[in-house]
Amino acid sequence: MLSPKYPLTSLALLTSTASAFYLPGVAPTTYEHGSIVPLNVNPLTPVGSERDSQLRSVISYDYYHPAFRFCRPEGGPKEVSESLGSILFGDRILTSPFELKMGVNESCKSVCEPKPKYKYDKASALFTNQRIRQNYNFNMLIDGLPAGTPYEDPLTKTDFTMRGFPLGELDDEMKPALNNHIDFVIYYHEAAKGKFRVVGVAAVPESRPDTKRKPDGTAECGVPRGKPNFYINEDGEQTEVTWTYGVYWVASNTAWATRWDTYLHVFDPKIHWFSLINSAIIVVFLCGMVAAILMRALKKDIARYNRLDSFNLDDLSGSGGEAEDGVQEDSGWKLVHGDVFRTPKNPLLLSVFLGNGAQLFVMTGCTIIFALLGFLSPSNRGSLGGAMILLYTIFGFIGGYTSARVYKSFGGDSWKRNIAMTPLLIPGIVFATFFLLNLFLWAKGSSGAVPFTTMLVILAIWFVISVPLSFAGSWVGFRHAVSGDECDQSLKPTLTELIVSQPISPPVRVNQIPRQIPPSTTYLRPIPSMLLVGILPFGAIFVELFFIMNNMWFGKVYYMFGFLFLTYTIMIITCAAVSVLLVYFLLCSENYHWQWRSFTAAGASAGYVFANALLYWIRQLSFGSLTSGLLYLGYSLLLSFLFFILTGTIGFFASWAFVQRIYSSIKID
Ligand SMILES: *[C@@H]1O[C@H](CO)[C@@H](O)[C@H](O)[C@H]1NC(C)=O
Repeated sequence: MLSPKYPLTSLALLTSTASAFYLPGVAPTTYEHGSIVPLNVNPLTPVGSERDSQLRSVISYDYYHPAFRFCRPEGGPKEVSESLGSILFGDRILTSPFELKMGVNESCKSVCEPKPKYKYDKASALFTNQRIRQNYNFNMLIDGLPAGTPYEDPLTKTDFTMRGFPLGELDDEMKPALNNHIDFVIYYHEAAKGKFRVVGVAAVPESRPDTKRKPDGTAECGVPRGKPNFYINEDGEQTEVTWTYGVYWVASNTAWATRWDTYLHVFDPKIHWFSLINSAIIVVFLCGMVAAILMRALKKDIARYNRLDSFNLDDLSGSGGEAEDGVQEDSGWKLVHGDVFRTPKNPLLLSVFLGNGAQLFVMTGCTIIFALLGFLSPSNRGSLGGAMILLYTIFGFIGGYTSARVYKSFGGDSWKRNIAMTPLLIPGIVFATFFLLNLFLWAKGSSGAVPFTTMLVILAIWFVISVPLSFAGSWVGFRHAVSGDECDQSLKPTLTELIVSQPISPPVRVNQIPRQIPPSTTYLRPIPSMLLVGILPFGAIFVELFFIMNNMWFGKVYYMFGFLFLTYTIMIITCAAVSVLLVYFLLCSENYHWQWRSFTAAGASAGYVFANALLYWIRQLSFGSLTSGLLYLGYSLLLSFLFFILTGTIGFFASWAFVQRIYSSIKID
């Protein structure tokens, strides 16, 4: 039986090659005693407050944003080269004036000479204090390792590190105090005699009112933690700040290879297991139900239809139309056999969605598998983003191919429009939204805004690699799907050799005149059925989704790809099972518009994902500015839209395979 299972086959193919695929990791750097260990700075990012665990902004600001008045290195900060994935995920790494010498303890150093340009005037004071109120974090990298805050998990009593440390704190009167002194505790490991490696960085920031820099360049760091704190004056009087820091080197047994482990802490693994088992039970029940209902009902149906059919044939020895009349006494899905493969409305749009959905499906699947195999660890900065872009680009071929095959199977004939729309419509929507949101960030002076040159690079990758690959895929797809007489004979043999498959032809003929569809029961109408079907895939993923959102918006490192992989699998099975069930009920009620219905019903889980994002906003986020809200809404909408395409595609292909199967097992004249 021919069923459209090529996305699955390609996934299987790719996973089998994954073990041979090697992404070079970062090589360790060794330092000798007293040599300089680089400290680079990344933008300041908002995090959830410890007071009320609310996130107040989603906009990040460059460390050298003029209003921060932080010390600059001599000759200005230099950019540290980064990968595309790293830039897209918000990294903007720059050099800093901090001087760290391997193994040399220093209790008090000043970062730079106080200059008039580093004084806070009213505007910059207001800006910086506002950032303290919104819980902004410093993000510094020491030998590529983020300086973090040590914590203890209250549940498991294990130590872990959160990236970043606060720019300031609110005192008891909610007055923002600036952390103008930082103590770095750096853990090193002696790899060989006299060769040291950085294996851990903790930062302890403090607000100290009496830091001073003496004329000879040495500094006084004042009293360690205590009151009164250092405040930036907001009422017009200029504030001068002396930035100081201390460095403490501590020997550690941690090996370089495991230095990231402390950042990849899984909070409450029990909840993950609980949710996973929970969704697994849903899935087992669901599949059991689908299997039980379908197997029994279908077996009976098929046996009955085939019996009836032979009676009819004997009695009437009639042609197709009359045989159909003979069965009309009976109800059920066989009645619509002459319409079930009728071209759906908007075949072009559906096939474009399905092509892109297949592309997304293979991309997400491969990304998760690569991550699971440990290729995309956060120590490989930006590798996750890079892998996603690379895979999405390459799988443009799959997108074009799927879209063309589906469109041809629908009997569509504006193939030029199909070829053009497949790589342009959805990536175009995504890019346009992304560009629009970027404009907001840009207007805010946020470092999160993707630089114009990066935008051009993305456009170039899209047009130079992805679009041609998609065209190639479409071309191959159409060549396969067309029958001999329409095809350019000279090219046919080589192409047939290229991929061994045949056009997907329906097992039953389509009648000339469309059948009337009887009114359906309430729960089979589009909206109720979408609400009913969509909630199950969402139910399977929502706990993991909560963790992903927490990690995304609260700047934690998400590294639970084992859980994610299982959840993704469960989601696929759920989407497939519920949409097959819906299609069966639809066909039984003599409604043959299953194509869009299966797509939208499975895709409706995206509606729940978006609703969940809104709920999350109410519960966890309290944005002070309209821009933050708009950005949050924009990103949530974009991700929900992609999720709609992804789940809809899974639902459609499962239903297609199902419909092909059942209609090929009955005899029709
Ligand atoms: C540096 O400071 C750390 C932490 O206080 C201490 O454990 C270590 O022994 C010091 N190293 C030297 C060389 O003094």
